[in-house]
Amino acid sequence: MPERLKSVRFHEVASTGAPFKEDVVRGLLASPKSISCKWLYDEEGSRLFEEICKLPEYYLTRTENELLWSIGKERSPLAGTIIEYGSGHSEKVRALLEGVQAYVAIDIASVAMERAALALSQDYPDLKVLALVADITKPLPLPSLLNSFPKPWVAFYAGSSIGNFSNEQARFLLGLIRENLGPGDGLLIGIDLQKPISILERAYDDAKGLTARFNKNLLNRIAKAFGIDISLESFKHVARYNATEGRMELFLECLEDQTWKLGPGVLVSLQKGEMIHTENSYKYTLRGFRALLESSGFRPQKTWTDSKELFAVLYAEVC
Ligand code: AVI
Repeated sequence: MPERLKSVRFHEVASTGAPFKEDVVRGLLASPKSISCKWLYDEEGSRLFEEICKLPEYYLTRTENELLWSIGKERSPLAGTIIEYGSGHSEKVRALLEGVQAYVAIDIASVAMERAALALSQDYPDLKVLALVADITKPLPLPSLLNSFPKPWVAFYAGSSIGNFSNEQARFLLGLIRENLGPGDGLLIGIDLQKPISILERAYDDAKGLTARFNKNLLNRIAKAFGIDISLESFKHVARYNATEGRMELFLECLEDQTWKLGPGVLVSLQKGEMIHTENSYKYTLRGFRALLESSGFRPQKTWTDSKELFAVLYAEVC
């Protein structure tokens, strides 16, 4: 490893969740059928998601980026250490790194994350970087792992990824983040806001069909894992807004009856018109999200939004 990359440390925290096949079987034997959205992100899924982020219809990424660059200027240095949850390619955090001494990337997808941590370390030679392979939805012993990392710490959770969890799960996850922070530390979090349904439906069912491919890629992943044939043409990508829940919902709608053999004696039958629920993406009101933060041990301090109020970034202190 070149001399200047020696400041990157790697650490793996054991994962305790159910593996893909087990989780898929459980979800498909349930009624209604569903599969956790975390399984959308295999290598191809992650690649497609990156492409989605560049689409004109998918306003979330570019709007958040603009906000982050202005926050980076306004609040520099934001922290002694930035701890990014679900860090992916560690691109957005670049807006916040001015004057920051250390960066901790936490992600379940080790390959992309480690590559990103190395690239970041190359571009910011004075930054101390730790890449942590871990499931952010499980407790993490950060205070002991990071005892030499300068305070204050700011947890950073971008992209409105919190919106892929139910409110109950989101409160639990925010509580886990809160447990790892101490007095004077904070949380910087991006959230997608409530808006006209037509904008949302375009963002989740784009003209190029990338979101449809992203959703249907889950079928390829299932076919490969279980050694079965699944025709992608026999499913339709469905993205619709659920006004009662305040969220976008993605489904795979089955267009013809079929049966999948997912193991000895494990047959899953799908009927024409049946839906597999694959993702929720909550859209918040500022008041609703501030209440969620408050019930998770945070005191909202500052909110930044774009002129169209599409997206918001909030800073909250621990209380
Ligand atoms: C990762 N997450 C915040 C995205 C979202 O908007 O909920 C995932 C996504 N699904 C379809 N398009 C993007």
